[in-house]
Amino acid sequence: MFKVALVCGARPNFMKIAPVLAAIGKSGRITPYLVHTGQHYDEKMSQSFFDVLRIPRPDVDLGVGSGSHAEQTAKIMVEFEKVCLREKPLMVVVVGDVNSTLACAIVAKKLWIPVAHVEAGLRSGDMRMPEEINRIVTDSISDLFFTTEPEGNENLLRFGADKDRVHFVGNVMIDSLLQNREAAEKIPVLEEMEVESGKYCLVTMHRPSNVDDPEVLGPLLDVFAKIQEKIKIVFPAHPRTMSMIGKFGFSDKIKKMTRVRFCEPLDYHRTLKLNAHSRFVMTDSGGLQEETTALGIPCLTIRENTERPVTVTIGTNEVVGSSPEKILLAVDRILAGSWKKGGMPEGWDGKASERIVSILESFLGKAR
Ligand code: UD1
Repeated sequence: MFKVALVCGARPNFMKIAPVLAAIGKSGRITPYLVHTGQHYDEKMSQSFFDVLRIPRPDVDLGVGSGSHAEQTAKIMVEFEKVCLREKPLMVVVVGDVNSTLACAIVAKKLWIPVAHVEAGLRSGDMRMPEEINRIVTDSISDLFFTTEPEGNENLLRFGADKDRVHFVGNVMIDSLLQNREAAEKIPVLEEMEVESGKYCLVTMHRPSNVDDPEVLGPLLDVFAKIQEKIKIVFPAHPRTMSMIGKFGFSDKIKKMTRVRFCEPLDYHRTLKLNAHSRFVMTDSGGLQEETTALGIPCLTIRENTERPVTVTIGTNEVVGSSPEKILLAVDRILAGSWKKGGMPEGWDGKASERIVSILESFLGKAR
């Protein structure tokens, strides 16, 4: 048996690690050691995902919590180093692009433990995004790369990765989506939110570039106020967004929007069902850009760029930025029924995790 440490820490990691762990369980040749860094710790940002996705209890929770990027990354590194020295995994698997991904990849590599990166090669080209720095650093020291779209492979090869180590496997997040679609359908979340299928828009927004600056956040909330006159909005808000709205004195703007259902972060099944039944989604999340493409739901990405271009070239996504005019024009196009249909990107077939596990086994077998 090969002992492999798998790392998760923040909300978008959980739906990526769940299907990989399940595939490892089926294969029987790898002993997983699950590490939760504790980057996200609220019930609604962490435990609810473990419950709904049936992720086993982590073998260790580093409990690092929030802090500046340096503090958070450093704390994870100090604690994860102890875990590696004690548990001696043969490999460390990291997913996505959060601070936990970067911190654990660096620690493992410096201890000469091979690193596998799931969702490697994505690039937004925007170095003001902390995630972009995390991706570049993680990819520059990883030993095995699992990519979700062809452009990921191109980016890695351009950065000098060994092509035999780059594997286009598809998208583990879509594995989770397909595995949970039926169960999600049973949750009465439309009733809970008082909306009808196809008659509301789902909004999520938490990126520092959108919520940390009142000059950006204020006008975006004003656009939502206009959109809710045309269609109801469901807006589950990240803790960061909630706190910025309070800090900038925007709570009144929210109270005035009577057709916006503003709520706390929702669990995985509720979000999935709300996404699948929405008329369209407005978001700055990476994951929702992919999930809307997989579900064929129109998506407006409230950012200036995307690291997931296949969602635009093949899927239902359009990058509209944060300009109120552009957002309103795009919403009108959707409501008029003239949005592209979109197709399913290659390899988004629910089997990405199986492919990953078989490549991991063969890598570990050769390394012995
Ligand atoms: C992180 C990821 C981002 C991902 C997002 C999804 C990085 C660099 N960013 O951003 O890629 O899209 O998660 O949620 O890793 N907070 C809580 N409770 C929690 C967690 C956070 O209240 O359980 C609050 C704290 O005030 C904290 C702030 O949210 O300071 C930001 O949390 P942090 O983990 O630093 O980054 P996110 O913005 O969540």
